[in-house]
Amino acid sequence: MKITVVGTGYVGLVTGTCFAETGNNVICVDIDVNKVNKLSNGQITIYEPGLEKLFDRNLKEDRLHFTTNLAEGVKDAEVIFLALPTPPGEDGSADLSYILRVAEDLGKIITDYKVIIDKSTVPVGTAEKVYAMIAKNCKSEFDVVSNPEFLREGVAVDDFMKPDRVVIGTRSERARKVMGELFAPFVRQGNPILFMDEKSAELTKYAANSFLATKISFMNEIAVLCEKLGADVDMVRRGVGSDDRIGKRFLFPGIGYGGSCFPKDVQALVKSSEDADYEFRILNAVMDVNEKQKLFLLPKINSWFKNDLKGKHFALWGLAFKPNTDDIREAPALYMIDALVDAGATVSVFDPEAMANVERLLGNKVTYAPHQYECLNNADALIIATEWSVFRTPDFDKIKTTLKNSLIFDGRNLFDVTRMRELGFHYESVGRSA
Ligand code: UGA
Repeated sequence: MKITVVGTGYVGLVTGTCFAETGNNVICVDIDVNKVNKLSNGQITIYEPGLEKLFDRNLKEDRLHFTTNLAEGVKDAEVIFLALPTPPGEDGSADLSYILRVAEDLGKIITDYKVIIDKSTVPVGTAEKVYAMIAKNCKSEFDVVSNPEFLREGVAVDDFMKPDRVVIGTRSERARKVMGELFAPFVRQGNPILFMDEKSAELTKYAANSFLATKISFMNEIAVLCEKLGADVDMVRRGVGSDDRIGKRFLFPGIGYGGSCFPKDVQALVKSSEDADYEFRILNAVMDVNEKQKLFLLPKINSWFKNDLKGKHFALWGLAFKPNTDDIREAPALYMIDALVDAGATVSVFDPEAMANVERLLGNKVTYAPHQYECLNNADALIIATEWSVFRTPDFDKIKTTLKNSLIFDGRNLFDVTRMRELGFHYESVGRSA
C-alpha cells in the first residue's frame, strides 16, 4: 500500500518505518528541513532500540522516503497518517493547532479518495473537527479514522509490530476495509483489531493511559503506607499482582511516572471531563499523588543531612524518564535536580543515553560525568532515578570506596534491602524499610 505519515516524531518515525518493513511504500513528511535532511541521509533522529536496523534496511530498499513537501508527500498516498504533536495548552487541554493546520492543507491538496488517520493522542471529537477542516476546501471523497497508538518508548518496534490490539474508529465501510487490510500483517498471532466509532477510539487511548497512571499512583500510595506500617511493598506488589484481574505489570512503585504521555494525557482527560461538566475525581488524585511522588526521596535525604544540603554534593544516576530512551520529558530526575540545587547542593549526573538532552536543557546547572563511577567522585551520596540495566549489578566496592559516605537513595528499588545492609550501606528506597 502507498502510505504517507505526516510528522516524524517518535510515533511517526516508528509508524513509517514499521509499515515500510511490512512491504508498504512509505513517505514521511515533516516541516523541519534539518530533520528531513538527516533522515533522508540515513541519520536516525531518535534513540529507540531496534529501530535503526529497520530504518537502514527500508531506506536502502527504497521503501522509506522523507520530504518537507506535503503536496508531493500525499500525491499517491492511499492512506495518510497524522502523527503530529498535541502539546498541552495552558489550561491542560490538548493543543490541536498542528493537526488542524495540516487538515486544512490536505483539504486543498487531495484530489482522489484518501483515508486520513489520526494517530496522535487527541481528545474525543477531534476526528469530527479534522473531517470538517478538510471538507472546508476539499473536492474529493475522503474518510477520517481514529487509530490511537499504544506503543511504549524503549520497546516501540516490538509494540508496533505485535500490538496487543489495534483500535480503529470509523463508521465508514470503505475506510474499515482499507484499515483492516493495512493492519492484518500485525495481528497474525490472533490479537484483535477492534473496530468502533471514532469517539470511542479516541477515548480508549486516554482511558488506557489514565488507567495505567492510576495503577502506578495507587501503588505509590501503598508504598508510602508500607513505610508507615512497616510492610514491604515488593511483597505486597507480588501478592496483589498475582491476581489475574489486577495483573503484574505497572505496579512498580518509584519516584513517579513521567514521559511525554502519562502526565499530558491524564491532564487532558481531566480537562475534557471538566469541559463535559464532569469532575474526574480519581484522576485529580492520580496527578496529585504523582506530583508529590517525584520528590519522595527528598525528606529522606534531608533527614539524613539534618535539613542542611548546602555545600553537599550528590551523584545522580539516571536522567531519562525511564530506561532505554533518551527522552527526558517530565523526567522525575529533573525535579530532583531542581530541589537539590535550590537547597544549595551541587549535583553530578550520569545517564547512558540522555546526557546530551539534559545538557541542552540544564547547561552548567549540574556537572556531567563521562562514566557512572566517575559520577561518584566527592559525592556525599548516590541517588538513583532511572532503572537502567547497567545500574542493577554495579561494583558495590567501587561505590563504597568512591562515595564520601556509604549512602544510597534509590528511587527505583533496584537492590535487595538485606543485601545492602550486609554490604554496609545505608540504603533508602521506596516502600521498604531502610
Ligand atoms: C505510555 C504507555 O505505556 C503506552 O501504551 C502509550 O502508547 C504511550 O504512553 C503513549 O501514549 O504514547 P511510555 O510513556 O513510553 O508509554 O512509557 P511507560 O513504559 O508506559 O512508562 C511511563 C512512566 O511510568 C515512566 O516514567 C515509568 O517509569 C513509570 N512506571 C511504569 C512506573 O513508575 N511504574 C510502573 O510499574 C510502570
